[in-house]
Amino acid sequence: MSDKVTLEFKGNKYDFPIVEGTEKEQAIDIKTLRSATGLTTIDPGYKNTGSCESAITFLDGEKGILRYRGYSIEELAEKADFLEVAYLLIFGELPNKDQLAKFHSDIKKESHVDEEMKKILDGFPKSAHPMGVLSSLTSALIAFNPSSVNVTSENDMYHAIVRILAKFPVLVAWTLRKKKGLPLDYGDDSLGYVENIHKMMFKRPSEDYKSNKIVIDALDKLLILHADHEQNCSTSTVRIVGSSHAGLFASLSAGISALWGPLHGGANQAVLEMLEAIEADGGDTKKYMAKAKDKNDPFRLMGFGHRVYKNFDPRAKIIKVAADEVLNDLGIDDPILDIAKGLEKEALEDPYFVDRKLYPNVDFYSGIIYRALGIPTEMFTVMFALGRLPGWIAQWREMRLNNEPIGRPRQVYVGENHRSFVDVNKR
Ligand code: SDX
Repeated sequence: MSDKVTLEFKGNKYDFPIVEGTEKEQAIDIKTLRSATGLTTIDPGYKNTGSCESAITFLDGEKGILRYRGYSIEELAEKADFLEVAYLLIFGELPNKDQLAKFHSDIKKESHVDEEMKKILDGFPKSAHPMGVLSSLTSALIAFNPSSVNVTSENDMYHAIVRILAKFPVLVAWTLRKKKGLPLDYGDDSLGYVENIHKMMFKRPSEDYKSNKIVIDALDKLLILHADHEQNCSTSTVRIVGSSHAGLFASLSAGISALWGPLHGGANQAVLEMLEAIEADGGDTKKYMAKAKDKNDPFRLMGFGHRVYKNFDPRAKIIKVAADEVLNDLGIDDPILDIAKGLEKEALEDPYFVDRKLYPNVDFYSGIIYRALGIPTEMFTVMFALGRLPGWIAQWREMRLNNEPIGRPRQVYVGENHRSFVDVNKR
């Protein structure tokens, strides 16, 4: 007999089963709550509410554990490459050589983006934030790829998936190049997936592209570290938009908008802006720590805290080490890294942060590496989206293959009770 909980309400008792996951997480299955009791639940921010059963990513916030399809983030960041991890997240297993080669070949076949899309990009001012441009272009792709909209078969889903994995990096590169006033061109199918992304982003018109292994490896690792994170804000957005059968590209466009927020993926840009402000302020970290603790000050220590991790974000640990390595390998001495380390040390010793279990998250150090790789600050969250793409795709595919119902939360109404209309002359 599986475990259950009993709810007592108005003299009646109601049993609800306990669901237990493969990592022994337990949840109350309340699918019959309203029909049995007339009650619903309320949980702003869904801090205590699970939206689905998922087999993609497991994280333990108390222990600082993160695994993609059972593989630890530490092993994947060290031993895998981003395309392998994308395949793993989407299809559930690490690909063998032939599967990986076919996956990459199928992606390359789809790397053309309709030239008409450039007219849409032209409509944006150079000052447009790249996340708004990217979300718009991703949605615009639907018009040029109508067969990727109403996909129901696994085969149709596969084609939509390789199409977006091919075209999204082109849109990312074009978004950056538009900002820099550089020609919008394509990559080189002879290159690796991440190397090709780097070429598309950074090749200068008058020079041959020169690959740099340190840069490519660092970018590959960062993309792996951002690839999925179970039911975070933007992934939940992708799932709920996809649950109306709006299509993969439309769901991704919504996810990009959700990620943009400074409380979510936009934090990596906000961290760098915060560190630069501290540097401009003579490195006065204590002033910013005080602001972060002042309840009357809306300022938060960006890159710190997490809804789930109440221990170190394992990704932040890996990125912190990588930041040292990349800057050292590239011969860059960035005072911003020292400010970040000083701020981290202070926060980890400050009761306000310790009591609230606020640790550095994935966004705290990532911007320092992006900056060392020559990526403009405004593009940091776009890089987060590029990394998160396979995770969003995997979660959307799982939701569709599981035939999950359309997402439609309930509410508790706290507005006016019924009242009759009053003519305007009598108000
Ligand atoms: C990402 O969900 C994911 O998995 C997201 C992500 C992913 O991979 O998809 O991991 C990526 O979004 C990482 C988070 C990036 N955001 C930031 O770095 C922004 C700064 N952090 C916070 O705004 C905050 O920590 C959140 C949004 C990340 C989490 O907020 P919660 O879980 O809603 O926690 P909360 O706001 O209720 O905070 C609890 C307490 C509050 O103080 P009290 O009311 O108890 O006195 O901690 C305080 C907060 O004021 N607090 C902070 C703080 N974060 C929380 N105080 C100062 N600085 C901070 N950064």
